[in-house]
Amino acid sequence: MFYDCARNDHGLPFNPLKGLVVPRPIGWISTVGLDGRFNLAPFSFFNLVSERPPMVMFCPNGPHAEGGVKDTLRNVEVQGEFVVNLATYELREAVNASAAPLPRGADEFRHAGLTPRPSRLVRPPAVRESPVQLECRLHQVVRLPGEVGGVANHMVLGAVLGVAIGDELIQDGRVRIDRLRPISRLGYMDYAVTETVFTMERPTLAPLARPEAVAQD
Ligand SMILES: Cc1cc2nc3c(=O)[nH]c(=O)nc-3n(C[C@H](O)[C@H](O)[C@H](O)COP(=O)(O)O)c2cc1C
Repeated sequence: MFYDCARNDHGLPFNPLKGLVVPRPIGWISTVGLDGRFNLAPFSFFNLVSERPPMVMFCPNGPHAEGGVKDTLRNVEVQGEFVVNLATYELREAVNASAAPLPRGADEFRHAGLTPRPSRLVRPPAVRESPVQLECRLHQVVRLPGEVGGVANHMVLGAVLGVAIGDELIQDGRVRIDRLRPISRLGYMDYAVTETVFTMERPTLAPLARPEAVAQD
């Protein structure tokens, strides 16, 4: 089948796109408002976009249940800082609970039974229960096409200033993915947990290949 995105003529009960671009890692973003209140919400339009320097992006799209932009975007725009907490299988219920449409300014840490822990380099707290946190400074907010409920989609780009990793995750100099058990979004109401891993070595450079022509990922 083929469908035209402008016409959305896939003929299926649900748009299949989010079931195809999978799995999407979940950035569990903590922020603080000007009033000092903490905020926490998951975003699966999220990824690491560069390594040197390390940069991440996430997309708060559409409106808050009470109208206007989501609290996370509002806080990031006024404070210029956020923390990405890693969403793990163990924390799956708390991740989901933190997406509840609570009244504006409500503290999702308390709602989801989580503990805020002071960050080292930024003001927003981290989720103590999460084993990995990326402390980030806002780089740029990009307004994207599209509008739902009078609110545009946005992409937030941030520079990662510091990374906190639970010591129990590191063994022989590498992250133990089997201990981390990160969860990610699939389509519909489905999630995945990373459990199966395989390894492939990169092809070696042909003698005449120019090093700058090698893709970086
Ligand atoms: C796993 C998961 C992933 C989500 N990903 C996104 C996303 O990428 N963009 C978005 O705008 N909302 C996303 N949501 C919904 C937000 O988390 C939700 O609207 C939240 O209430 C926003 O909170 P805030 O107003 O405190 O920022 C997601 C929800 C869940 C459960």
